[in-house]
Amino acid sequence: MTDNKKRVKWDSNLSFLLAMIGSAVGLGNIWRFPYVAYTNGGGAFLIPYIISILFMGIPLLFVEYGAGFKFKSGISRITHKINPKYEYLGWFIQMSPFLILSYYVCVVAWDLMYVPVSFFKGWGTNPEQFFNTVLLQNNVHISGLLHISIYVLISMLIIWAIIWFISHRNLNDGIGKANRILTPMLFIMMIIIVLFALTLPGASIGLATLFTPDWNAIFNPNIWSAAFGQILFSLSIGMTITLAYASYLPDDVNIPKSALTVAIANSSFEVFTAVGVFSILGFMSLTNNIPIGQLVSQGTGLAFIVFPQIFNVMGTVGYVIGPLFFLCLLFAGITSNISIIEPLSLSLQDKFSTSRSKAVSIVCAFAFVISLLFSTSYGSTLLGIFDTFTNQFGLLLNVVIQTTLLAIIYGLDNLLPGLNKNATFLKLGKKWMLLVSYFIPLITLLLWIDGVSRNVIFVDTTTMIIELILLMIMIILPIILTKIPSKNDDF
Ligand code: PFF
Repeated sequence: MTDNKKRVKWDSNLSFLLAMIGSAVGLGNIWRFPYVAYTNGGGAFLIPYIISILFMGIPLLFVEYGAGFKFKSGISRITHKINPKYEYLGWFIQMSPFLILSYYVCVVAWDLMYVPVSFFKGWGTNPEQFFNTVLLQNNVHISGLLHISIYVLISMLIIWAIIWFISHRNLNDGIGKANRILTPMLFIMMIIIVLFALTLPGASIGLATLFTPDWNAIFNPNIWSAAFGQILFSLSIGMTITLAYASYLPDDVNIPKSALTVAIANSSFEVFTAVGVFSILGFMSLTNNIPIGQLVSQGTGLAFIVFPQIFNVMGTVGYVIGPLFFLCLLFAGITSNISIIEPLSLSLQDKFSTSRSKAVSIVCAFAFVISLLFSTSYGSTLLGIFDTFTNQFGLLLNVVIQTTLLAIIYGLDNLLPGLNKNATFLKLGKKWMLLVSYFIPLITLLLWIDGVSRNVIFVDTTTMIIELILLMIMIILPIILTKIPSKNDDF
């Protein structure tokens, strides 16, 4: 459905905002931010972090908003419209989000298993063994690919069914409705957790650890690159999700206000969550006399091992806070997951004039097949490789390509009228254009080179082979999608 008049639109500004916030607020906010902030200067990290939001995050959000709003289509059609020879790049950009979809489902599936288990602390006295041996049946050797963990597989099937069901329905009945329910519930549950966490003995130890500033950190370039990276991931930039969601905006929306609302909500949520996470770690440190530095971790280690250990120590109240915590992760994961189906399915609809339902089903079917790899015993190791590759290589490169195409080749001045149309207090102009045309692509390119060169130096052979396979997929699939003739006259 590419005809602008018939094109589906959000039924209200609130639906759009909640969908955007639901996409941005994900696992990255809950288990990545607290750790990144702590390891990068604590309280002092907030300075590079806020500067990154202002000079990278929000300006890039405007680019995706502006392009989606103006072209009312996905990135492939946009690049094709700019010049048919760039269509390939449009498909290329969507490969990283597609791969992210395939493994993010698995992480959400792990979490789904913890929801029922947390009601009776079914992880027992050794949560690490429960996670690695019982649930994942982990094997760090590649031969683990030959063995499937049935629990992970079943849980993943359930998550696929849920996100397919939400996404394949029409926009407002599917994504719109799911976010109107899940996003506010996520916020309410997180508020309960954080308020409770603040009452725990030892909370102040955690908070002091998190927020004590190490001012020397400000002069360390790695801290700046950590802040940029966190903001890009947290605001889902480079994934063209915002662009896809903004393509359904009605004409009367105040875009600068909307983008600011999303950025502020996302960052408030993550700083607030960090307060809760560190209060809980402080409690454990005090109760079991473990230095807090030994408890702090991120990702699956924090959520599925350290937190269950702490819920064990909490006694009865752990039976309430545990399920709340895993439900938060579940809702945050699902609303992010449905958003990342959108870019590719929108582009397929644009080019092949298929229905939404069919396009979503195709994207889910392909990603599902890839995701089966993560249900094997090697899944967790493989997931780590996918994650590093898509983030350090894929998304950063996407930002460079996107800004080059939209800012330097197409020209941001073409996006300005739409962006400023209903703007009130903030109007975009020259400063924004300079930032997006020169400063951001340059910084992102440097970060990309840094990430890729570190990867080449430090990575082992198996990982390198897997990364090369991923690279081939990312290069070849877009060639195929570009070559297949379009079924839409306006493509
Ligand atoms: N902003 C999301 C997060 O913080 O988790 C990033 C994201 C990841 C969005 C994966 C969507 C997704 F499927």
